[in-house]
Amino acid sequence: MKDKYNREISYMRLSVTDRCNFRCKYCMPGDSPFLKKLLTFDELYDICSVAVDLGVKKIRLTGGEPLIRDGIIDFCERVKSISGLEELTITTNGSLLQKYAYDLKNAGVSRVNISLDTLNSERFYKLTETNMLQDVLNGINTSIDAGLDIKINVVLIGGFNIDEIKDFVELTKFNELHIRFIELMPIGASKRLYESCFVSAEKVLQLAPELKRTSFDGVAEVYKIQGYVGCIGLIRPLSNMFCDVCNRIRVTSDGKLKTCLHKSDEYDLRGLSKDGLAIKIKEAILNKPSGHKLTTTCFSESSRFMNQIGG
Ligand code: 5AD
Ligand code: SF4
Repeated sequence: MKDKYNREISYMRLSVTDRCNFRCKYCMPGDSPFLKKLLTFDELYDICSVAVDLGVKKIRLTGGEPLIRDGIIDFCERVKSISGLEELTITTNGSLLQKYAYDLKNAGVSRVNISLDTLNSERFYKLTETNMLQDVLNGINTSIDAGLDIKINVVLIGGFNIDEIKDFVELTKFNELHIRFIELMPIGASKRLYESCFVSAEKVLQLAPELKRTSFDGVAEVYKIQGYVGCIGLIRPLSNMFCDVCNRIRVTSDGKLKTCLHKSDEYDLRGLSKDGLAIKIKEAILNKPSGHKLTTTCFSESSRFMNQIGG
């Protein structure tokens, strides 16, 4: 269905858990709180089914880390079988893809976005408080073998991974990878890091001037270096350029529907019947704000941490 600004809402991001096996500093550092009660898979399924009835064509499962929730593969299979749903995708930190990539593919998941901010194992430990870099790299390879379409997301973090931009770009020389650099957003735990860590995506173009713009894929400007088989995306959340064409809604793992990542408006879906869900989701879509006003000094209005929304 359309919102009042004539945007067709066709994409839902559904967080299935706020728990994660990593503790990325900009997302959920050690002291971040957990939500009290997660929706059950049956409740999550009903939300998906009603959302698809209302015109959602693509669902992305997010977290925390979606693959740590027991039963996630069966859930993917159930969601994928909802008639009218065209695409089921997942965002993951990649640590469990060695185990699950083939299962995800068989369950009907077509694409996987993998977060990977550094290729250096010591830095990886500092950022995530785990030693699972090799698991993530193996998971990327298993996903490729399994036939999943993958994108790698790299959040640009000043003082941390800016000197690795070139290394990530070079990975696209011989590998058909799509690597996307994302500007840090001033939300949740990142608010406190923001001033010292924000680096503009322009930096990527300065460090790799051979990159040539080829297209725009909805949220990312896509670039390539001539002769390289992979491509590079730049995502600039602060530039506001997606708000006009924003086709998404988000549902948190405790059942709150959010119509804008950076606004505090939430619609509680917990405990509603299917009819109740339809009424509430329609109301939310009709009230979807025109956009956010984020700048480098005006931070997200949402008080949630990213693991409580799902990105
Ligand atoms: N700014 C930008 N990206 C973020 N992510 C988590 N927190 C932030 C933030 N503050 C990313 C994760 C993951 C995706 C879901 O969102 O790295 O790739
Ligand atoms: Fe976990 Fe992803 Fe947050 Fe890191 S960014 S703590 S991997 S949910």
